[in-house]
Amino acid sequence: LARGTGGQDLAGRHVVVSAGGTREPLDPVRFLGNRSSGKQGYALARSAAARGARVTLVSANAALPEPAGVDVVPVGTAVQLREAVLKAAADADAVVMAAAVADFRPAAYAAGKIKKKDGEDPAPVALVRNPDILAELAADRPRPGQVVVGFAAETDDVLANGRAKLARKGCDLLVVNEVGERKTFGSERNEAVVLGSDGSETPVPYGPKDDLADTVWDLVAPRLAGPPL
Ligand code: CTP
Ligand code: CA
Repeated sequence: LARGTGGQDLAGRHVVVSAGGTREPLDPVRFLGNRSSGKQGYALARSAAARGARVTLVSANAALPEPAGVDVVPVGTAVQLREAVLKAAADADAVVMAAAVADFRPAAYAAGKIKKKDGEDPAPVALVRNPDILAELAADRPRPGQVVVGFAAETDDVLANGRAKLARKGCDLLVVNEVGERKTFGSERNEAVVLGSDGSETPVPYGPKDDLADTVWDLVAPRLAGPPL
């Protein structure tokens, strides 16, 4: 049921995809952010829609055109992303967390622009932890049999780090990217291994993000429990 063959294996399903990267504001003009372009999440949303799913795309700061037939919910921060994802997940068959969620946010938000002062060193920026949305989703599934998928960009021992992260998060599938030149951030292409909680390991060769998106849904579809509601 690859792209272009017209397979409708997600017909009648509701899937939620998060995409992009959260921005954590420091003051009205500044934020802590990351390099996620949103392209992988948008590819996942397009692929699911083409396979017949109703798709909610929770999009954090992605400057990308809205995919046709997809319900896009724009968000800024990790806290906003959590709220939007949990709300959409309430009746979802699958949730894919492709967004890069900031691990920390500034402890305080300055209502006015932070100004520098002559002869004074800048104040350090205190940070607090953001909620772990993927771990929360995996632990408290609003619908039995809901399939929860995470993404991870890793360096060094990519597979061992991925296995440990899959176990820690409690999700069903973890798409592990090796971070490197030409890959991942902002690129059109990606290379990955999809790890399953059942011990499965599915390598996805270096190629378009659309191909990785199709592989993710190929792995999600047989894990969906029962007929569509
Ligand atoms: N994630 C999340 N909430 C967070 C952080 C991450 O839901 N606060 C999700 C991401 O969307 C991704 C997965 O968790 O699907 C893995 O993100 P990653 O940053 O690799 O995991 P962390 O647990 O934050 O580990 P690390 O310390 O390596 O950043
Ligand atoms: Ca992280």
